[in-house]
Amino acid sequence: MVPFSALLLIAILARQGFAALPTCNAQRPNIVFIFTDDQDLHLNSLDYMQNVQKLIVDQGTTFAKHFATVSNCCPSRASLLRGQHGHNTNITHVRNPGGNYQKWRLMGEDNNYLPIWLQNAGYRTEYIGKFLNGYSKALYQHTPKGWDHIDALVDPWVYDFNRPVFSANGETPILFQGYHQTDVLRAKMTARLKYLTEEQEKPFYLTLGTVAPHVRTGGDLPIAQVRHQQDFLTAKAPRTKNFNPDQAYTDQKPSWLKEFKFLNQSQLNRIDEHYRRRVQTLQGVDEIVHDVVELLREKNILDNTYIVISADNGYHMGQHRAGAGKTLPYITDTNVPFLVRGPDVPRGIISTLPSKHLDLAPTFLEIACVDESEYPVFLDGRSVLSNWHNPRNETDPNHHDIINIEFWGSGESELPGQSGNRRNSYKAIRVIGTKSSWLYTKWCTGDTELYDTLVRILSLHPMLAVYLIMIQNDPWELNNLAYESNNPDEETKGLIHRLNGILLVTKSCQQDNCRNPWTVLQNHCKTEDPDCPDGDIFSNLEAAMDTKYDAFFRSLPKFNFKECLLVQVADNEEPFLPVSSKKLGGDFREHVDRYIDPSTDSTKEVPYNSQQQGTQEQRNVQIDKMMETARELTSEELGT
Ligand SMILES: *[C@@H]1O[C@H](CO)[C@@H](O)[C@H](O)[C@H]1NC(C)=O
Ligand SMILES: *[C@@H]1O[C@H](CO)[C@@H](O)[C@H](O)[C@H]1NC(C)=O
Ligand SMILES: *[C@@H]1O[C@H](CO)[C@@H](O)[C@H](O)[C@H]1NC(C)=O
Repeated sequence: MVPFSALLLIAILARQGFAALPTCNAQRPNIVFIFTDDQDLHLNSLDYMQNVQKLIVDQGTTFAKHFATVSNCCPSRASLLRGQHGHNTNITHVRNPGGNYQKWRLMGEDNNYLPIWLQNAGYRTEYIGKFLNGYSKALYQHTPKGWDHIDALVDPWVYDFNRPVFSANGETPILFQGYHQTDVLRAKMTARLKYLTEEQEKPFYLTLGTVAPHVRTGGDLPIAQVRHQQDFLTAKAPRTKNFNPDQAYTDQKPSWLKEFKFLNQSQLNRIDEHYRRRVQTLQGVDEIVHDVVELLREKNILDNTYIVISADNGYHMGQHRAGAGKTLPYITDTNVPFLVRGPDVPRGIISTLPSKHLDLAPTFLEIACVDESEYPVFLDGRSVLSNWHNPRNETDPNHHDIINIEFWGSGESELPGQSGNRRNSYKAIRVIGTKSSWLYTKWCTGDTELYDTLVRILSLHPMLAVYLIMIQNDPWELNNLAYESNNPDEETKGLIHRLNGILLVTKSCQQDNCRNPWTVLQNHCKTEDPDCPDGDIFSNLEAAMDTKYDAFFRSLPKFNFKECLLVQVADNEEPFLPVSSKKLGGDFREHVDRYIDPSTDSTKEVPYNSQQQGTQEQRNVQIDKMMETARELTSEELGT
């Protein structure tokens, strides 16, 4: 029985904001979230980050199956911050008309999102670095809501490593002359951590959004700090099994991807150079991780702080002949680095439990001890904190094994000479199981892809020796089982009918249906299909494969986009199951159709550093020293 006084306390807290659970530890943990831009998991960039390896990977858990549900900066970040799929936020691209900071504001999504929820729970919330695309010199005064302190990079200079411009809390943007952007981020991070640990009492949530290892504007290669420009000079992009594959594989690809030419030597050289630039650029982030961990250790709060490292989306370099970039549904683009160190997170473990960015907002709320009944109703993700604490436990009652992946509008290539394409809208599902694992994708061109991505590790223990056998079906997504010339057999066709059924629900799902489409499908079967088999009914893919359900799944409408559009238009994506999901999150945001981005033109250019910065001498420079040469932008530079 909860004592009356505790109930009263909950009631008082609830009036002020979220109620903290009475059972919760008085010392709620801090959260430091380090979020890189376009970092791959599958091209081994993490291997080049020594401090990340030593201080996070070895001291925490690596989640090898964590996904971004939209492989693009702005939609992925918006999804994370709202705990909702892109189809519900309707932030679907990095710019107009799909969406950026301006659209996010106009839709009012910033009135109800993660930092506000954490503030209500009594956390101090802070943000440093890259925020949503389009946070620009025309909009900086519209400070992102919910942050007790935000010091954000400002467009159009966000991707200029040698021209760092930040606006703190909506104040006039400041140019940090003579420093590399990543060093400024480092100095700001340590300054804020000192403030948070020395000068205020609340538990804190601090996000760092780096630009590294993203390309510069126009696709130019990223620039590392001078002290790292000679690192890893022999590094090369990994020649994965799907790297620059033969024509027979390219023929099986959908939409614009089937037109990719075999990459020639000069393109391969460029890809390798780009790869080196990426891992060099990431060294500055690795230093930040070092400084953050050491500072938390010094302040005696390392053990009560979750440190989470991830990236907004993944990256490919030559896979399927796509030269460089993201925006594709494949494993390189959507399966992102995800590392956690913190209270009760076991050390040195690699976990295959699936999760996605959508799950982070509820996970952080659980860390903040917010009672689940107080969570915003529209969350599509669910907390995975129990997975962080039990990463080896493969029981997953929350169906995190079905992941909806989606994209709208243009796909892009960051390899010079390989142009992007507007026919890149798709809806996909990944089923991530230990018995079966699939990627199924429907493209706006009508193309279908199906890959059997299962990897099984069998261990045998004859006597005392342990043998591990790895059985890989097609994790590199080369053999498209749905491709007509591959003559899909009856079993494959039956599987496609099931996957189509799941996709009908997940492609526009809300809340629980996003992880558990089975309830919707069962109800549909029981109410719409007079021949629906009685008794026990499917609640996972293996059970649904029973031939007695063939007729039901075959009878479902096939999902197809009507046409390739740059934005999400409900009528283009019929049918909806359940019909109510056609609202696409519209109950929780304003509707915005056409909107205008304010111009970022100006009469005077902001100067770059006269030479590249980030020397060895600058490794430990603090923010006070940087402020000595920093200056406010002039009104000519701001175009005001
Ligand atoms: C390689 O391909 C690119 C793009 O098609 C082309 O511009 C370039 O001339 C080619 N280089 C060589 C060495 O063939
Ligand atoms: C594994 O997870 C399930 C579901 O959350 C839970 O019921 C079970 O107790 C867990 N097992 C262990 C060993 O932690
Ligand atoms: C999504 O945004 C686009 C562009 O702003 C708009 O035209 C479309 O109607 C919106 N879709 C939904 C479902 O709100």
